[in-house]
Amino acid sequence: MDEYFDVRCIDCGQSYGVNEVLYTCSRCGGLLEIRLDAGKLSSIVDTRLWCRRPFNVWRYRELLPIFDDSKIVSMGEGGTRLLRCRNLTRIIGLENLYVKCEGDNPTASFKDRGMTVGVSKALELGFKATLCASTGNTAASLSAYSARAGLKCYVLVPAGKVAVGKLSQAMVYGAKVLAIRGNFDLALKTAIQLCLEDSGIYLLNSVNPFRIEGQKTAALEIFDQLGFNPDNIVIPVGNAGNISAYWKGFNEIRMLGLTEELPRMHGVQAKGANPLVKAYRSMSWVIEPIENPETIATAIRIGSPVSWKKALRAVRESGGSMIDVSDEEILDAQKLIARMEGLFVEPASAASIAGVRRLVEDGVIDRDEVTVCIATGHGLKDPEIVLKICESPIEVDPNLEDLRRILMI
Ligand SMILES: Cc1ncc(COP(=O)(O)O)c(C=O)c1O
Ligand SMILES: [Zn+2]
Repeated sequence: MDEYFDVRCIDCGQSYGVNEVLYTCSRCGGLLEIRLDAGKLSSIVDTRLWCRRPFNVWRYRELLPIFDDSKIVSMGEGGTRLLRCRNLTRIIGLENLYVKCEGDNPTASFKDRGMTVGVSKALELGFKATLCASTGNTAASLSAYSARAGLKCYVLVPAGKVAVGKLSQAMVYGAKVLAIRGNFDLALKTAIQLCLEDSGIYLLNSVNPFRIEGQKTAALEIFDQLGFNPDNIVIPVGNAGNISAYWKGFNEIRMLGLTEELPRMHGVQAKGANPLVKAYRSMSWVIEPIENPETIATAIRIGSPVSWKKALRAVRESGGSMIDVSDEEILDAQKLIARMEGLFVEPASAASIAGVRRLVEDGVIDRDEVTVCIATGHGLKDPEIVLKICESPIEVDPNLEDLRRILMI
């Protein structure tokens, strides 16, 4: 099956074998992307067979560049709910608003889609250890999948800036957790250098193109769940791997001849960490990194997104947009989706709800367009934020009189 795939540099087009260990193009330093031969693959892709398989990442087996089945490390990731949010219609004004609940994944974020493929690749290539830099969710996911694969795992996180749920996950799964004095961008730079110098450790940040292959399956699922591609995807953007992955997935559906339609991709960043929004607004093809990014949504507190070029391409090719939202809007949206729809998502994920609200207000998204917001991670990842923004429990003696008075019943 490996003859169906190759790895290409998105800048100079240099082609590499799919089993070469590379994180960037050795000719020009550009980002790498896995390309599949849609012509060859469509002869073996059978969507009726897909429908008979369990609803998870591996349903789309033929599109995933792992060649030795015995090396697959899976926990049934993917197959997440696509919930129609009718109650939000009143507030947001969209008739057909859906939320893809990526908090349903085994470690409660979308990262598991990338890690099932990335860690399987690590095993296939014979690595004994994995490493990532992370704002939290990547660390949680890589730690879990590495544990299951029997691999050592090292994670670098920005000291004091990781939500407690995510940190505790990485710790309990047995990863070696290093809290870097510096932000995520510095942690990632260090992680890449370390893996390039120590060839025994496999880097599993989203600069690794196999991560993107797993993450693209969310697009295939949305197509399966709706029966067509939506008009809009609204997605939080940090290091910019995920928006690129969705765009790749939707394009592959089209390349396989399953539909002609493609959604518009709308990326949402926090105001204090918005280099892609600035580049989009100034119609620039380069980004100016933000030195000290700051936002309550720690998952997307990133000033120098590594996959910025892929993200700008996704937004521009699709006719979408980039928008930024304030921390206040993010926290309002987090409460709104919890209280209107019963969905508890983490702040970075709530950014997509805050974003869709503004995109409808600004007339970028029409009220009758089918729109899917990506809720990338579960709210329990970051419980401390909720304790700060919601009314505290009222302590009371266990007698009916006091209860009646307080509840006004
Ligand atoms: C919950 C959550 N949402 C969104 C993102 C942003 O994804 P990406 O870095 O692929 O843009 C992350 C990344 O860590 C995340 O953890
Ligand atoms: Zn190149």
